[in-house]
Amino acid sequence: MNAVAVETEELYKTYRTGGKEVRALRGVSLNVNYGEVVSLLGPNGAGKTTLVKILATLLIPDKGQARVGGYDVITQGHKVRKIIGYAGQDSERSAYFRLTARENLLFFARAFHGISKDEANERIIELAAAFGFENKLDSYFIALSGGEKQTFVIMRSLITKPKIVFMDEPSKSLDPVTASRVRKYIKEYAKKFNAALLVTTHNMLEAEEISNRVVMINKGKILFNGAPEEMKSFVVRSESIELLGNNVEEGIKIQIAHIPGVINTIEKDSGISLICKDAYEVLPSVLNVLKNNGKKLPVSIGRATLEEAFKVMVGDDTEK
Ligand SMILES: Nc1ncnc2c1ncn2[C@@H]1O[C@H](COP(=O)(O)OP(=O)(O)OP(=O)(O)O)[C@@H](O)[C@H]1O
Ligand SMILES: [Mg+2]
Repeated sequence: MNAVAVETEELYKTYRTGGKEVRALRGVSLNVNYGEVVSLLGPNGAGKTTLVKILATLLIPDKGQARVGGYDVITQGHKVRKIIGYAGQDSERSAYFRLTARENLLFFARAFHGISKDEANERIIELAAAFGFENKLDSYFIALSGGEKQTFVIMRSLITKPKIVFMDEPSKSLDPVTASRVRKYIKEYAKKFNAALLVTTHNMLEAEEISNRVVMINKGKILFNGAPEEMKSFVVRSESIELLGNNVEEGIKIQIAHIPGVINTIEKDSGISLICKDAYEVLPSVLNVLKNNGKKLPVSIGRATLEEAFKVMVGDDTEK
């Protein structure tokens, strides 16, 4: 069998609403192999959900190609839908409110995937045990809490034992114990069934724990695609100096940006972040510039955020 489960080539997607254009994907090429968990990281609005929805055949790209299990997502959508598992970001509206969780799962497995009742029941029990959901199976969907609905959606995505699974922020609104169960299950599932999983998350530690590979996306473009260790070693090495206040004159900003050791400056609503390898080394020079210009601002040292670190690594490819 082909080792590649998911392949996208130069995917583009632009949303057009109310005379406005949002270029959600700007040429995304990505592969996921069987037996591999790939985490898709990126800030809000990066394009993660858009990509996952295209792969799950819920959205059509403007340009580019995507194949899932060898099937084209545009021309063979019905075949793709048969072989994938999908856990979407919006769990609230994803089942029949007047059926119980078990009835919903049975209905989904039998009506859409033609699985026998016995097999479906067995699988429901197995999944419920794995996620600690046993005593919620006979609750009406409408009566489940947000996290329970989310757990249900994850169970549903796995009930047919799909070889290719897309999960959009599976750990969102899960308590730490359930989130940890889900992570464990995802990892084991990929191994046991030689399945390919593409999982979006905002949690770098989660990505590190479950993934063979992490992909960082921002403004519709891939910034990084590699091993979690590689990402981590980079991010851990990046520190930031935060200058609070948004009334810093251009001249001072320029002087600060040119201090040796300052790799990048990122302007925010609250002030300026200076990204550097060693904040302690750089800090005295920053304070000197401020002092020489008669400026007193709250200053603190922190860890660069994931996005900041990646912007530095690959250059800030912001769309102007
Ligand atoms: N239906 C839509 N109509 C118009 N714009 C949209 C629509 N859906 C998404 N967008 C825009 O497309 C961009 C990408 O959105 P997307 O939902 O893919 O991001 P995301 O990475 O999943 O973000 P989050 O982490 O918040 O879930 C955003 O700028 C968003 O505002
Ligand atoms: Mg999203």
